[in-house]
Amino acid sequence: MKAVILAGGFGTRIRPLTCLNPKPMLPLVNKPFMHNFISWIKSHGIKDIILSIGYLPKVFEEYFKNGESLGVNINYITEEEPLGTCGAVKNLENLLENDSFMVFNGDVLSAINLTDMIKFHKDKKSDITIALTPVEDPTSYGLVPIDEDGRVEKFLEKPSWDEITTNLINAGTYIIERNLLELVPQGDNYSFERGLFPNALEIGYKIFGFVSNAYWLDLGTPAKYLQAHHDILNGRIKFDFREKEIFNHIRIGENTNYHKESLLSSPLVIGNNCQIDNSAVISPLTVIGNNCIIGAGSSINGSVLFDGVKIGKNCIIKDSIISYNAAIKDKVIIENNSVVGDNAEIGNNNILKNHIKINVDAKIKDGEIFF
Ligand code: GDD
Ligand code: MG
Repeated sequence: MKAVILAGGFGTRIRPLTCLNPKPMLPLVNKPFMHNFISWIKSHGIKDIILSIGYLPKVFEEYFKNGESLGVNINYITEEEPLGTCGAVKNLENLLENDSFMVFNGDVLSAINLTDMIKFHKDKKSDITIALTPVEDPTSYGLVPIDEDGRVEKFLEKPSWDEITTNLINAGTYIIERNLLELVPQGDNYSFERGLFPNALEIGYKIFGFVSNAYWLDLGTPAKYLQAHHDILNGRIKFDFREKEIFNHIRIGENTNYHKESLLSSPLVIGNNCQIDNSAVISPLTVIGNNCIIGAGSSINGSVLFDGVKIGKNCIIKDSIISYNAAIKDKVIIENNSVVGDNAEIGNNNILKNHIKINVDAKIKDGEIFF
C-alpha cells in the first residue's frame, strides 16, 4: 500500500526550532524525527512513500534522497502554496494506485499497529478508516465520536470543552479508498478534517474509527517535543538508538570525553565528539547532540541539546531545548520549557524561566533577561 506523509506545515507552535528546520526533521534523540517515522511505517510493510512537503523542502531531500538507505522508495511533491491536508493529497493523486492508500500526519510519534489497522479497514469494507487515540485534553485535536460498531458519527475539529463527548481524537493516520478523492476540489486549499471527512460522512460513505491504545503523541509544541524525548528515554516507545549503551540506560556516542561521576543517573543519551567537563553534572532524561561542550560546574537536566551547543561554566539547564550551535556563556539559568534558537548567543548571568523563547541568531547581552 502506498503512503502519503503530510509534512508541509510551518510548525509555528514550535518556533524558533522550526525557523531553519521543518518540524518533521527536528532531531528526535539525535536523528531526524522523520527517520524514525519512516522506520515505523516500514516495519508494517509500507515502503512506497510520497512525501508532501512545501516548507524548507531541501532539508528532507538532502537527508533521505530516494529513500534507498532506509530501504524505502521516496517521491517528493513540493507545494508552492500550502494546499491544506487533503488538497495536498489531491495534488499528487496521479501517483496513487487505483485502490486504498494511507495518509499520515508527519508530526506524530506513534506505535499504532498499522498491520491491524489495514486488516480492520478491509474487514469492515470501509471507505475511510481513521486511527483514533484517547487523550486527556481533546481541545487541540479533531474529536471523532464513534458508535458501538466503530462507525464515525461526526467530526469536531478543535472542539470547545462543552462539545466534548468522547476522549477519542483523530490520530492523524488514515486509510482511504482512492475513489473518494473525486469529492475533492482540484487546486483549492482543502482539509481532510473540515472538508473531505464530514462531506463524505454526510453523503453516506462508510467511515470507521480504528481505536488504538498504543503510544501516541503529537509533537506540536516545545512541551510535547520534550515529552517525546522523556518517553523514549523511559522506554515508553520502542526506539532504535544510534548511541551504544555503555551502562544501564546510559548511551554515549564515539569520541566523547566524560567523567563517569558526571552522569548522575540514567536514562540519558550523549552524542559523538562531546566534551563534558569533569565537574559538570548530566542528570536523567537529557539528550545531548554531537559536538557539544558542557563547562565546569554546569548541570543539565531533562533537556534536549542539539548538535554543536556550547554551555559555559556554572549554568543550570532544566527541562528546556537548545537548538543547533547555540552558545550559552557562564552562570546562565534556562528552565521550564524555554527554547533557545539556532546559533543564538546568551551572555553571562541571564535567567530564562517559564517558556522563554530566544530567536535564531539572537545575541543576548550579559544579565539582560531575568524572568
Ligand atoms: N503538504 C502539506 N500541505 N502538509 C500540511 C499542510 C499543507 O497545506 N498543512 C498541514 N500539513 C501537515 C503538517 O506538516 C502536519 O504534519 C500535518 O499535516 C498535520 O498538520 P498540523 O498543523 O500539525 O495539524 P494539527 O496537529 O493542528 O491537527 C491535525 O492533527 C491532529 C493529530 O495530531 C488534525 O488532523 C487533527 O484532527 C488531529 O487530531
Ligand atoms: Mg500536529
